[in-house]
Amino acid sequence: MSMDILSSYIDDLDYTGLMHSLLIAYMVTGRDTVGTTLPWFFYNLAMNPHVMSGIRDELAPIAASRKDDTTTMMTFSPEDTKHLVYLQAALLETLRLYPPRSIERKTVVADDVMSSGHEVWARDTVLLSAYSMGRMESLWGKDCYEYRSERWLYDDVDGGGGGGGARKKRLRYVALHTFLAFNSGRRMCPGKHIAIMQMKTAAAAVVWNFDVEVVEGGHKVEPKLSCLLQMKNGVMLKVKKRAI
Ligand code: HEM
Repeated sequence: MSMDILSSYIDDLDYTGLMHSLLIAYMVTGRDTVGTTLPWFFYNLAMNPHVMSGIRDELAPIAASRKDDTTTMMTFSPEDTKHLVYLQAALLETLRLYPPRSIERKTVVADDVMSSGHEVWARDTVLLSAYSMGRMESLWGKDCYEYRSERWLYDDVDGGGGGGGARKKRLRYVALHTFLAFNSGRRMCPGKHIAIMQMKTAAAAVVWNFDVEVVEGGHKVEPKLSCLLQMKNGVMLKVKKRAI
């Protein structure tokens, strides 16, 4: 008999307390992180219209295969967006520059020497800045401050063998300890794939159906000092239904 995790907790009275804590953890950790990332994502797209066009090019074949009335809003399912690498690259690039959990705080359990050679002592506090690491030239190159989705992609020649096969974009492997937005190791975010799936489906619908522009002369967009990297005053965007 197949059973999902939630049902197994519901049926076991010993675990209802744990289920309660787990559900709260998932609701708290999952909602604000995604809600904090998407405004940065749309801001980045509005500032980089070529990335918006790149995502639309990826969505176009899916939209063309639809029989629905194209005058209404078009939405895309997780299945539709799963293989869209350019859209994913644009999201990862947003998380590199604006990781919602910008600082990781860890307490040392026992004296140890880290792989970097730094000695740490029991009860020390170690702070890791995902925000700074996302902007380090030694990790991301000279253009580390630029929003450039292409850095996450490489060209794969279908069929190989140098026979001039079709080029396909694929996501480049980036070591998790380099890109800390979801943390790495044992405490890595267990909702990473759900988060990417949620953001891809929401982003695809907005990008396909609307033009998004930053309001000229609007306020300065900057991060707020808080436990999540929210925008201090939000961002003023002009959103217009797209003529398709
Ligand atoms: C943009 C979206 C997200 C980002 C950037 C993100 C990032 C993170 C990070 C950095 C941690 C590690 C915190 C730590 O141990 O120090 C974490 C933990 C966690 N995340 Fe996410 N998260 C996101 C979305 C989600 C979603 C959608 C869910 C649930 C569906 C989720 C569930 C959790 C849970 C339950 C933990 C705690 C894990 C533990 O205690 O070991 N997250 N997340």
